[in-house]
Amino acid sequence: MDVILLGTAAGGGFPQWNCACRPCRTARRDPASALPRTQSSVAVSADGARWFLINASPDVRSQLALIPGAGPRPSRELPVEGVVLTDAELDHTLGLLLLREGRRLPVLASPAIGSLLEREGGVLRVARAFADAPFTPLEPGRAACLPDRDGAPSGLTVTAFAVAGDPPRFAPDAPADGATTGLVISDGRSSFACVPGCGALDGATLERLAAAGLVLFDGTCWTDDELISLGYGARTARAMGHVPMAGPAGSLAALAQLPGRVVYVHINNTNPVLIEDSPERRAVTDAGLTVGADGMRFSL
Ligand code: MLT
Ligand code: MN
Ligand code: ZN
Repeated sequence: MDVILLGTAAGGGFPQWNCACRPCRTARRDPASALPRTQSSVAVSADGARWFLINASPDVRSQLALIPGAGPRPSRELPVEGVVLTDAELDHTLGLLLLREGRRLPVLASPAIGSLLEREGGVLRVARAFADAPFTPLEPGRAACLPDRDGAPSGLTVTAFAVAGDPPRFAPDAPADGATTGLVISDGRSSFACVPGCGALDGATLERLAAAGLVLFDGTCWTDDELISLGYGARTARAMGHVPMAGPAGSLAALAQLPGRVVYVHINNTNPVLIEDSPERRAVTDAGLTVGADGMRFSL
């Protein structure tokens, strides 16, 4: 199984277009000391030929170029087999609209994410004006085969599991349950977990992550009050559905105990771990974890 990190920044990308925080300024001044990153997305394949996107970011156009063989086809069909979503947030779904010329655009996610997309946000409804975009619900906790575009088994199974989180800001009254999920993708021999948004690391979530050979995990904020202290928002990271890295109850301490490789993704532009020589980056690497960067590849 091959896994490619297509984009490792949170919403807004890195540097964010309208932001002059320290990591954003560093990335603009000297990109080698804080690598620019596109918005959160992953590609996975069992055979190196048929690829699936996990999340469809607003940067999907440039991200597709990172997938070997996912170039244009004479039929103008989608160059990937389908899109699996972890939530309905805009940074994970706006790419569906950009893929609308792909004729057939299969989307898979939990039923809660499906109804957010169809009813509250309208992304699927709008995409369907252009493409045949069938939605397959993934019942949380149950493994499902990932079919390729022809309906044949791709060799991959996916299990969505609900994690702590909030519904998207455009649907504040929608139920939170099932709106944010992690995914475990398996080829029968090995598995990896993709959890780009997670508001709390409880025992059940950690148990799932411990069984995966590779864990891609929410690296949005270093501290819980990161956006508040910078004057960029009123909500803590946890309140936005993102457990921070630092501190005794942070993700770093918990994930350092896992047996498999752990890579942070969905990293917000304010997070100092984005600066290559920062003490916060050193704390992550000293704990044996990796700060994800666009284009990283893993073979499991
Ligand atoms: C999130 O990760 O919490 C969302 O992407 C936030 C947003 O869309 O503004
Ligand atoms: Mn996000
Ligand atoms: Zn910034």
